[in-house]
Amino acid sequence: MKATRVNHIESTIKPNTHPYMNGAWTPNYDEYDATEMDVIGELPGDIDGVYVRNTENPVHEPIGRYHPFEGDGMIHAISFRDGKAEYHNRFVRTKAFLAEQEVRHSLWAGLMEHPSRSTRPGWGAHEHLKDASSTDVIVHAGRILSTYYQCGDGYRLDPYTLEQFGTESWVPLDGISAHPKLDEKTGELLFFNYSKHAPFLHYGVVGPDNRLKHYIPVDIPGPRLPHDIAFSENYTILNDLPVFWDPELLKKDIHAARFYRDIPSRFGILPRYGDPSSIKWFEAEPTYVLHWLNAWEDGDEVVLDGYFQENPVPGRYEGAPPELERMMAFLDQNLLQPKLHRWRFNLKTGQTTEQHLDDEILEFGTINQRVGGRRNRYCYSAISKPGWFLFTGLAKHDLESGRSWSVGLGPERYGSEPGFAPRVGATEEDDGYLVTFVTDMVEDRSECVLLDARHIEAGPVCRILLPHRISSGTHATWAHGEDIRAAEARRAG
Ligand SMILES: [Fe+2]
Repeated sequence: MKATRVNHIESTIKPNTHPYMNGAWTPNYDEYDATEMDVIGELPGDIDGVYVRNTENPVHEPIGRYHPFEGDGMIHAISFRDGKAEYHNRFVRTKAFLAEQEVRHSLWAGLMEHPSRSTRPGWGAHEHLKDASSTDVIVHAGRILSTYYQCGDGYRLDPYTLEQFGTESWVPLDGISAHPKLDEKTGELLFFNYSKHAPFLHYGVVGPDNRLKHYIPVDIPGPRLPHDIAFSENYTILNDLPVFWDPELLKKDIHAARFYRDIPSRFGILPRYGDPSSIKWFEAEPTYVLHWLNAWEDGDEVVLDGYFQENPVPGRYEGAPPELERMMAFLDQNLLQPKLHRWRFNLKTGQTTEQHLDDEILEFGTINQRVGGRRNRYCYSAISKPGWFLFTGLAKHDLESGRSWSVGLGPERYGSEPGFAPRVGATEEDDGYLVTFVTDMVEDRSECVLLDARHIEAGPVCRILLPHRISSGTHATWAHGEDIRAAEARRAG
């Protein structure tokens, strides 16, 4: 491997025992460029594109308690073409990152502290948090867009070099949430934001030319905490779920999420360019859903798959330090119990039907995004370590036959949300590679692991060694080389 450490950021974090600042979650402060990668197995020649992952990677000693969703955004990217791979990692140079670099300490308190502890106004729905741009990442119009789940700016980077282009200019005043969605067929990006002021939700569409085409208010009953949206070929599916900040406590600036078991889940379905009056609302079983997998149209119905949480506000985590027991409970998928679930919304009758597709605890899934918005047969999910926000394996589901397969990543090896890289020339939906970064605590190193998506249970096709052990992280995306090159050509001319 030819690896160059191009930069080092000084951390001010004191030694501690925080479960999400140590072990597999130990942050990184070195930024690397690496080529001529060392590979265990053989790097396939029929993979072309970039796997990009965001990571919560804190730089400064926190003000009060640290929640791992607040770490500064760090992007890890590995690109493939012609049997070669390259790796780069960079902090996202957010406004907050640069401001804290200047003063060399934290300026914003986190989710678990009273907002009055923040020393400057914050961003997004909460209004007092740092926009760390550390939640999600997608590649649209040929460039990475990194985002924060409480809403904020969108930061643009080059997917191959991680060169930084700063904030995206079309982002509205209320910011954008994590999980904007790309329709690869049209190149359109669908996004939303949410806030504590009426109308509490907005939805928008950006074209493949990176221009804002549509932006509308969505009237919902109060401040809500939507985390994701879904789309089908013609429709966008918004949500108003009964887990939100307690309105009474919110008057005292206390942000405590509660599950209102008697309030139904609501889904707002509208044409992609629909106006506010075109939204049809559907009711469903009360739950919370962090992530949707896909949606598609079937006659009069819109079909939506996602992970239905059976226990969305799990209370306390037994055995954790008292000041962290609520945070640790919210990070334990075994307590939240998300299950693969299907909703069917009948646009003619207004009826909703729904069912579990599996009883396994799964989340952080993906599909072959080439069929995004259209009927998909397969999905791929992450398997969590009980008690921890760590992924120990991956599962594949055939949603037509009901069959499933799984693979473990190995002892003390933790992966990230998988990306699906279609094999160059593939014609079948599952003909491709599942890509993930793995943090190996036994070997004290990290790898990018490729699995044959047709036979995930067979284990890795190859393992590409990275120049350093990287922190565990979550959201990731696969971007196709041909799409990035086409966007570059469009930009050039
Ligand atoms: Fe997410």
